Amino acid sequence: MKTCVITGATSGIGKATAIELSKLNDYDRIVILGRKKEELEQTQKLMDISKKISYKILDLTELKKIPNIVKEIIKENETIDCLINVAGYTEPAPLLTTSIENLKTTYDVNVFAPIILMREVVRYMKDNKDGGKILNVASTAGMTPRPGWLSYASSKAAIISASDTLSHELEEYNIRVYCVSPGRCATALRKKLAPDEDPTTIMQPQEVSSIICSLISNNEQCLDGQNIVIRKKI
Ligand SMILES: NC(=O)c1ccc[n+]([C@@H]2O[C@H](COP(=O)([O-])OP(=O)(O)OC[C@H]3O[C@@H](n4cnc5c(N)ncnc54)[C@H](OP(=O)(O)O)[C@@H]3O)[C@@H](O)[C@H]2O)c1
Repeated sequence: MKTCVITGATSGIGKATAIELSKLNDYDRIVILGRKKEELEQTQKLMDISKKISYKILDLTELKKIPNIVKEIIKENETIDCLINVAGYTEPAPLLTTSIENLKTTYDVNVFAPIILMREVVRYMKDNKDGGKILNVASTAGMTPRPGWLSYASSKAAIISASDTLSHELEEYNIRVYCVSPGRCATALRKKLAPDEDPTTIMQPQEVSSIICSLISNNEQCLDGQNIVIRKKI
């Protein structure tokens, strides 16, 4: 019996990933995380019910709650074999109007929560006979300059670096750490970054989730530790 935990499962890429992963045979138990009960239940309804699906309500800015949530997941599912950190936050603003609140929330959701989740999950995952897998969703915004998106772009650069570091650090436990950096994808978050863009002209969440699921499913060794760019040719 294997368990996968997915954050950001209420919408966009996280929701698409939860639905698609439930249709594959890699994980018998899937725990989806988010802030909104109704949306989590909607995602759950679209998932394959032959798997054990459960949800936990968690605001990722409440970092201190993470250890107990992970303990609860372990108690209810015995192991965690895969963690997919999808949740993300953005509040685009240029330097002169970037507030402490903007920086704090962006870094809490995009950097600190995924790192604390990894720390708490690895406490258990390191004892798994078959090791485990972690996948972090970063962004192409973390790789190239994005004037006006200071907090978001720099937070994504941080999670790209953290993923690389941990892929080396966790090798001894046979834990792989993948990082994917999508380009423009039609979700609520993208709408905040580019309100005037026509969402039908850009990548759809399912195009990103199918790559996430194939990475997780295929036991891919050569991409461990790498930042994998997912984007449509322009
Ligand atoms: N869309 C793009 O163009 C694009 C490109 C590159 C990377 N990404 C990354 O892809 C990931 C998924 O985003 P998306 O594009 O699919 O956008 P989305 O549909 O807006 O999804 C964002 C997810 O993050 C969750 N989240 C935000 N703040 C949270 C908090 N405080 N606590 C718990 N969960 C929180 C949201 O939950 P709620 O429903 O509770 O708000 C939602 O499930 C993000 O990491 C994003 O940075 C997106």
